[in-house]
Amino acid sequence: MLNVDLKGCSAFVKPELYNEYVKKALDAFDVLINESGAGNDFLGWKHLPSETTDGILNDIEAIRASWQKKGVDLVIAIGIGGSYLGAKCVIEALSHNFAKQLKRKDAAEVVFAGNNLSEEYLAELMDLAQERNVACIVISKSGTTTEPAVAFRIVKQFIESHYGKKEAAERIVAITDAKKGALKTLSTQEGYKTFVVPDNVGGRFSVLTPVGLLPIAVAGFDIRALIEGAKKAERALAVKTPENPAITYAAMRNYLFSELGRKVEILVNYNPKLTYVAEWWKQLYGESEGKDGTGIFPASVNNTADLHSMGQFIQEGSRVMFETVLHVQNAQRSVVIESDPQNLDQLNFLAGKHVEHCNHMAELGTRLAHIDGGVPQIEVSIEVLDAKRLGVMLYFFEFACGVSAYVLGVNPFNQPGVEAYKKNMFALLEKPGYEEQTKAIRAKL
Ligand code: PA5
Repeated sequence: MLNVDLKGCSAFVKPELYNEYVKKALDAFDVLINESGAGNDFLGWKHLPSETTDGILNDIEAIRASWQKKGVDLVIAIGIGGSYLGAKCVIEALSHNFAKQLKRKDAAEVVFAGNNLSEEYLAELMDLAQERNVACIVISKSGTTTEPAVAFRIVKQFIESHYGKKEAAERIVAITDAKKGALKTLSTQEGYKTFVVPDNVGGRFSVLTPVGLLPIAVAGFDIRALIEGAKKAERALAVKTPENPAITYAAMRNYLFSELGRKVEILVNYNPKLTYVAEWWKQLYGESEGKDGTGIFPASVNNTADLHSMGQFIQEGSRVMFETVLHVQNAQRSVVIESDPQNLDQLNFLAGKHVEHCNHMAELGTRLAHIDGGVPQIEVSIEVLDAKRLGVMLYFFEFACGVSAYVLGVNPFNQPGVEAYKKNMFALLEKPGYEEQTKAIRAKL
């Protein structure tokens, strides 16, 4: 299914003390399974894979089919944080690296908006929209998050003026709360098709709801295989044993944090398609654990590129980190290095070898060097990077996150700190109701 290997930690860890953390992780596992911990009203994600019905998948695939029929070739997915990173990470992981340049027409291109407030980004998005056949998925659980709301105003106006209001209602799908919120009200008024973000699923745990599934499906990927993988993980990880990979991962990262003071975890990949898996993972762990003055800071590197930038720091800089390496056992494409009669680059010793073999040796060599440099290594491995294994991996990281945060002693499912910037921004933008805060913040400038 998925394997967690801790051999790269053995030089740093005292086995008896590590066993204490396994016990803590097993206790935290009980809290998560029995739903007896802080934030237990946000545990709907645990059974999403097994509870995803054919009905939901059919509805999602029907949107894909209806947009295909209209010739839609650009879908703008609007959302921020948990309302976009899951879809983005799966689409990037499963896409051809050069899909855009190859101009493959088998599915719509999905681009993202509402995850920044850059005027240039939105203006340039409208340049693209002018040339394409456009639909939009707007995703906001609350319906009031500023970034997606601003982007949606602009995209909605574009679609309405381009296709007319009636057709716009067929080209806009909203994913939001079942009953309340601005986006729900607007969708009812305008007659948009809607999907629900369940009340008991937080944004960063929502990739296996329509929040992730709809953009992934319209991008042409197999959401049934994704769910199948996640279902497999749901079953396997529900077994209470010290060998459960979620227990192992949660126990070790807490050990390294609490006993060795490793306050930074770097998620390492050796395939550019995994770049956004790391971005999704950073939100998942950062928002779930970084509170109450504690938490491991989640960072990431994309190797081998970053070995030529961050590699120096990781090898010899402050010893604040450990690494979790995402290992993909097999490449799905084959490129063999050929012999060259001149051999000016002196690479003929690699003739006949697959590029992925070199990649794996770079990975292994780096891992050993980093252990020598004092950086503990956890390995998380999957067989190949496909929809099913991705489903396994996403569910694994979610489940392990719940266990790990309970070991740490925080509520994994809230994010009170996210409000601070919003209050200041609203005060500075003079939002009605913020008059006092506006005065207070101006006095500080
Ligand atoms: O994890 C979370 O809950 C957050 O990152 C939210 O997903 C993000 O703030 C977007 O919120 P909303 O979907 O309500 O617009």
